[in-house]
Amino acid sequence: MHILAFQSSLHDASAAAFEDYRLVAAIAEERLRREKGWGNDIPWLAIDEVLHIAGWSRGDVDAIATIHGVFPLHYFRFSPMREFYYKTRRVLGHERLKRDLSHICTRNHTSDASRFFRADRFLAENGFRPETKIFFANHHAAHALAALFHTDWNDALIYTADGIGDNISYSVRALRKDRLDVVFGDDSLLARPRPTHDSLATAYGYATRACGFQMWRHEGKLTGLSARGEATLAEDFAQHFRISDDGLVVSDFKSTRVMGEQIMALCKGHSRENIAASIQKVAEDFILLSVRHWIDRTDTRHLAIAGGLFANVRINRLLAEALPIDEIFIFPAMGDDGVAVGSGLNLLLARDGLATWLAHRQRLENVYFGRDYDDAIDRCFGNAPNMRRIDGDPAAVATGFLCSGKAGAIYAGRMEYGPRALGARSILASPAHADINDTLNARLNRSEFMPFAPVVLEEDAERVFDITSVNRYAARFMTITCAVKPEWRSRIPAVVHVDGTARPQIVRDADNSLYADILWRFRSATGLPVLVNTSFNVHEEPIVNRPEECLQALNEGRVDFVVTRNAVYAKAPAMPSLFWVPVSASSGAGSGAGISLGKSSDPRRPSLP
Ligand SMILES: [Fe+2]
Repeated sequence: MHILAFQSSLHDASAAAFEDYRLVAAIAEERLRREKGWGNDIPWLAIDEVLHIAGWSRGDVDAIATIHGVFPLHYFRFSPMREFYYKTRRVLGHERLKRDLSHICTRNHTSDASRFFRADRFLAENGFRPETKIFFANHHAAHALAALFHTDWNDALIYTADGIGDNISYSVRALRKDRLDVVFGDDSLLARPRPTHDSLATAYGYATRACGFQMWRHEGKLTGLSARGEATLAEDFAQHFRISDDGLVVSDFKSTRVMGEQIMALCKGHSRENIAASIQKVAEDFILLSVRHWIDRTDTRHLAIAGGLFANVRINRLLAEALPIDEIFIFPAMGDDGVAVGSGLNLLLARDGLATWLAHRQRLENVYFGRDYDDAIDRCFGNAPNMRRIDGDPAAVATGFLCSGKAGAIYAGRMEYGPRALGARSILASPAHADINDTLNARLNRSEFMPFAPVVLEEDAERVFDITSVNRYAARFMTITCAVKPEWRSRIPAVVHVDGTARPQIVRDADNSLYADILWRFRSATGLPVLVNTSFNVHEEPIVNRPEECLQALNEGRVDFVVTRNAVYAKAPAMPSLFWVPVSASSGAGSGAGISLGKSSDPRRPSLP
């Protein structure tokens, strides 16, 4: 079955294509429109992109999976009175162009979205076959299923937390062998209005705004800042929240608006660092209490989480280290961009039943679900008059640059799905000097308060970082922080936060051979088993997708070079002596100085002593 899945909620609209249980493609609309967080409409560019990657036309789609998202008004079926109301507004020039399907369900006290959606019109107008079925997923079910599907556990707690989706900000599910119980957050809650002000994610967003940053965009800056401040406001924030008798986070705010006003008022006059430390502590404390409540009651040692709150890598670390669990998994597209994949999985669950669905689960190997431009990137650079192609093995040449203190982008294969760059569209640099954070952020017009993330080969991960069986899977997708081993902190300062932690990405050769090869060569040359990995994007722009965007970044001097699977490129005028970069120009930090950077004749890549 060819399944098209998409989500059109307020932000991070995205699409995915499934060939039955095989996820063929997935991408957020922002990467194509080049507008960060784009949403509040149908992501047509992403839809056509995943169909292109799958090799299907719209007419080839057998079923459409989506959520109760935002749609143009004329796809809704209203009562005659409501139709008259909207027609009047149109005549008066106040036409509402779009509505949120979840709001319409709630207004009509039903969770049956199909009653209000003109599927026939949607299919006919947009080139789908008339018999194509449309399935609507619950927002939190989509978050939860995306996480659960990529595990192989027999039992689990699946916990979701976000701003709001389908009237709720949390959901709790328990997998017990052959049962998946929705403990809280099923579709019936869509049918009745509920308080919307229990969300810790929303409170975190208001604290973000109080610090002068953009709500729903810059929460990660507070997560970074939180390690630099004192939680002086934590009690003031915390007095508004409590854990209900049924183990959920609730608040005494009268409304979301009041929550915003009170948090903004509380923050007045306080430093950004202390605001950040305070809201981080409150979010950590209450989520830990709630998740612990449910871990205890579900009697499981496996935790799958998703939803925008779990973009917070410090919360995820706390859960991994404080709870009695054997493994944690955070779906890498934990925000609403991940809901497209979740809605497709929801369709498959409805079609096949739980036993079949569970049998098809698979652990996530990578998140490379965008388009592969490997055949176009070198042509793009080859046609650029001011670009120089550097001879030699790409990994060896790139490593030479990195050893000499240059920062370069790796552009290889299919783009990542989710917010993190994981080696397909990443910027790499040596971790040996902390000031690379400032110099590279300045080149990228970015302000960050968390150091760059490290990437490390799987074989080295445990000797550099506190990687255990609990967090190893999550660390493959850079969704969790952990302590850096004390003996390594001064050797890789660019990736160590003030609290001695980092948010590593563990990479294997099978995931991305070019990426792993560069890491191995860098380790051989410098003794440092880690590279800086930061996303290949400029301030407030989405991560680079197409070759043209990659070329532009190099042209603008955002990076010193670009490495592809076929070659390394640099700007011709800026670096006239690029043909040879001595290894001895490296940081000198390791035992490997003098090692040839030529193509290794030993594919086994011996470990360092
Ligand atoms: Fe969400």
